[in-house]
Amino acid sequence: ALKIGVVTGGGDCPGLNAVIRAVTRAAIYQHGWTVVGIPDAFGGLLSDNPSVIPLNMHTIRGILPQGGTILGTSNRADPFRFPIDGKDGNTDYADKSHLLKARLDEYGIDAIIMIGGDGTMRIAKRLKGMGIAVVGVPKTIDNDLYATDITFGHDSACNIAMEAIDRLHTTAYSHHRVMICEVMGRDAGWLALQSGVSGGADVILLPEIPYHDDFILESLAMRQKQQRQFSIIVVAEGAKAIDGQHSVVGQGHDAPRYGGIAHQLEQTLAPHLKQEIRAVVLGHLQRGGSPTHFDRVLGTRYGEFAIQQVNQQQFGTMVALRDGEIIGVTLEEATKKIKCITPSTNQLVATARNLGIHFGDRI
Ligand code: F6P
Repeated sequence: ALKIGVVTGGGDCPGLNAVIRAVTRAAIYQHGWTVVGIPDAFGGLLSDNPSVIPLNMHTIRGILPQGGTILGTSNRADPFRFPIDGKDGNTDYADKSHLLKARLDEYGIDAIIMIGGDGTMRIAKRLKGMGIAVVGVPKTIDNDLYATDITFGHDSACNIAMEAIDRLHTTAYSHHRVMICEVMGRDAGWLALQSGVSGGADVILLPEIPYHDDFILESLAMRQKQQRQFSIIVVAEGAKAIDGQHSVVGQGHDAPRYGGIAHQLEQTLAPHLKQEIRAVVLGHLQRGGSPTHFDRVLGTRYGEFAIQQVNQQQFGTMVALRDGEIIGVTLEEATKKIKCITPSTNQLVATARNLGIHFGDRI
């Protein structure tokens, strides 16, 4: 009988516990295997007091609807660049991948299932290169993982953002204001596009379509001409201005992590508007709480399929959704690039434009 380790890496999102539960149940029901969770990404195995969390029918009870991850997670537990406190209080980094391999052996863990985003899949690929048996499961609210149609967590985040935009509508129309709603999405605008369309935004700003303030102002003025006294702008945290346009905060690597773009827009648009303008940053609300029906089912399918991959010794793979079917793809393919929106061919962008939704790039 095998012993399986499960680890969650990177930012949390709704649906992680659904995957953990499915992995555990499938391992037990199908094969009678043992499952353990590795706490806090790889931090729990690489600390001076290593530990694992037993995963069994008792410990996974009731976790399906729970947000977050019962295993804990971290953005800073890369075994190849593991943070250690330096003597001067600064953080140093060390390669602890060999210690990780030794600890996995010590605990008798035969294979690990790594649930995470692009960063976690890159780590998985390197661990595979060291001879560790790994299977990846794609997670991120941003939906920017290449090689899968959808990551779990994205649907839940879209629903949270959509509901927030609904709520902004009623206060926007009451006060005749322009409301800016910033959603997450550093490199890709899937969340902004989906929540913007489903929430009835008037302007949607994406990392993939550089915007200009003048075009935004023109589209807002047009709405006023049509007697629409309020407007909703949904902006992805990674949205960029067209080159050459003044900017208050830095962009690219200088940009604040989130909460920058909405307030920048508020400041630059305000002097040119007759209406008042307010900015809201949804931030980590988008990653909290219970997963949607879609993410529970997808997470469950991913977790069960990951156990099938282990059973068939399909290591160095990531489970993926393609045209409604769950398949395994290589980690090489999964980490080739980030999946962004292609504005010229994306059907939802075209549909939105046909409905008069503006992307800030033209009129
Ligand atoms: O990768 C998912 C994501 O939600 C990004 O959109 C966002 O920039 C990032 O996580 C924020 O993560 P954290 O605050 O946990 O570092």
